[in-house]
Amino acid sequence: MLVSALVSGLVGASVVNAQLGSTSAQKPFSQEIQDGYNPLKHFGGLGPYTNRQSYGIERETPEQCEVDQVFLLMRHGERYPDSFTAAPMLSSLQKIQNSVKTPKGSLAFLNDWDNFLSDPNLFSQESFSGPYAGHLNAYNRGVDYRARYDHLWTGEQVPIFTSGYERVIDTARKFGEGFFGYNYSTAAAINIIPETPDQGANSLTPTCFTPTNNVPSWISVTAENLAPFKIFAAEADRLNEENPGLNLTNVDVYNLLQFAPFEFNVRKTSPWLDVFTRDAWETFGYANNLLYYYYAGPGVNTTAPIGSVYANATLAKMNEGPSTGGKLFFNFVHDTNITPVLAALGLIIPDKDLPTTYVQHDTIYQCSEFVPMGGHLLLERMTCNATKQYDAGVYVRTIVNEAVLPHEDCQDGPGFSCSLQNYTAKLQSTLPEYATACDVPAEYPQTLSFFWDYNTTTTFNYLKGDIPSQLAGTTWDEKPVGTN
Ligand SMILES: *[C@@H]1O[C@H](CO)[C@@H](O)[C@H](O)[C@H]1NC(C)=O
Ligand SMILES: *[C@@H]1O[C@H](CO)[C@@H](O)[C@H](O)[C@H]1NC(C)=O
Ligand SMILES: *[C@@H]1O[C@H](CO)[C@@H](O)[C@H](O)[C@H]1NC(C)=O
Ligand SMILES: *[C@@H]1O[C@H](CO)[C@@H](O)[C@H](O)[C@H]1NC(C)=O
Ligand SMILES: *[C@@H]1O[C@H](CO)[C@@H](O)[C@H](O)[C@H]1NC(C)=O
Ligand SMILES: *[C@@H]1O[C@H](CO)[C@@H](O)[C@H](O)[C@H]1NC(C)=O
Ligand SMILES: *[C@@H]1O[C@H](CO)[C@@H](O)[C@H](O)[C@H]1NC(C)=O
Repeated sequence: MLVSALVSGLVGASVVNAQLGSTSAQKPFSQEIQDGYNPLKHFGGLGPYTNRQSYGIERETPEQCEVDQVFLLMRHGERYPDSFTAAPMLSSLQKIQNSVKTPKGSLAFLNDWDNFLSDPNLFSQESFSGPYAGHLNAYNRGVDYRARYDHLWTGEQVPIFTSGYERVIDTARKFGEGFFGYNYSTAAAINIIPETPDQGANSLTPTCFTPTNNVPSWISVTAENLAPFKIFAAEADRLNEENPGLNLTNVDVYNLLQFAPFEFNVRKTSPWLDVFTRDAWETFGYANNLLYYYYAGPGVNTTAPIGSVYANATLAKMNEGPSTGGKLFFNFVHDTNITPVLAALGLIIPDKDLPTTYVQHDTIYQCSEFVPMGGHLLLERMTCNATKQYDAGVYVRTIVNEAVLPHEDCQDGPGFSCSLQNYTAKLQSTLPEYATACDVPAEYPQTLSFFWDYNTTTTFNYLKGDIPSQLAGTTWDEKPVGTN
């Protein structure tokens, strides 16, 4: 039955093509699956947004269901590197400029390349230029979500929660402008949740106060960590040979690889892409997986407790339901605040820890699939009518970067969703107790309350004055932390 339905679908499509004057180039379905060759998939968490590769589960809501609550947890959009990332990049670039007067071979482009990192004031900021601009991404996401979830906004005021960091706040605002359009200034209420540890559980960026388990030191990129991945040293040798006098190391190569993803965040293309081989890019992407896995992923024992805060608060809201609990929850954070929530939900957990001595190509822990710039985790609560296969009821679906990601242990609902009842039972039995596990000081908030006691002022919907210092973080009223 199913096979013949698929076949007749194909026949139907080819009839359409015949009418258009079919050529062999007009296949109804592409036979080229190019995702793996897309450079953006090899930029780890540093480059422009890409959708997650889908399993083929329909992104649209199953026909008999209606989404009645959504919880968006989104990373800020494309941006410039932070100063602590830009510094080693620029120092490796400087090394080239100091050692060779006229770069040759793969580096010849440097003779007339215009460095996009020449203005330190832009470090850390959301980008605003080029086809992958962060502002554009955030705004478009808002526009797209309004189109999808228009039925969930019936004119009430909606809080938008953002952690207290300027590029994150920027993203929240642009998303809000996209979603609410001409109603943004009055209908949205930007709530800034400071990133400081004293927020305890009342935070989008909770801190763990206990030591972590002993993890490989992948948080820092050192010659020693990179050594097993010989491609970085080999690339250095190749560039050094092309440019006599140059003495790049494997760490320099890693630093220079970062130029391409960041340049794409602000420009249409980057000559740095072609400096390195495909093997180097594949290895670079894997090195980024290691950074996440052992810093804010399943490799670290504090990750799931941290992520349980958001998982638990959204669970409570789903059980309250849309009529009393609210319908739209838009939350904006950093990459390393999303990975803990995935871990707490039991999603994208490899069977074994990631190896640090070779590239495990087939790992499910591919960070470019869940935390590119603008990456987002969406929870949808759906109310569904009965069908032959499914009971009527309330179900939960998880969507990561616009691809449905089912819970392997709870997927018997429409569109591989999980019944709210089973979802609740699962989380209640698996979620760690954040406050206890992370030893949160008694004087700090022990639960997340801003979903319930948010502010309705529109005062923070727009930036006033200068962009505050990025690295300091901001208070709830958008002052640099430590100044009030
Ligand atoms: C579910 O059934 C009710 C009653 O027939 C109908 O009003 C509603 O539109 C249905 N919902 C969906 C999502 O089809
Ligand atoms: C949205 O904006 C329109 C046009 O200004 C206004 O008439 C309407 O009341 C606004 N709705 C809300 C909920 O703010
Ligand atoms: C709401 O405003 C009060 C001051 O009136 C402030 O102390 C509090 O942190 C704000 N809460 C949020 C969620 O922004
Ligand atoms: C993580 O492991 C360390 C070392 O074993 C331990 O001290 C700490 O309590 C653990 N933290 C959590 C949250 O499990
Ligand atoms: C290149 O740098 C390394 C240390 O990074 C040093 O040991 C080596 O002597 C240098 N080689 C040349 C030719 O300068
Ligand atoms: C919920 O759990 C029950 C009992 O394990 C199972 O029969 C049912 O299929 C589950 N429903 C969903 C939607 O996963
Ligand atoms: C989970 O959220 C509910 C509702 O806010 C709260 O009462 C409860 O203490 C939270 N549980 C944990 C472990 O944080």
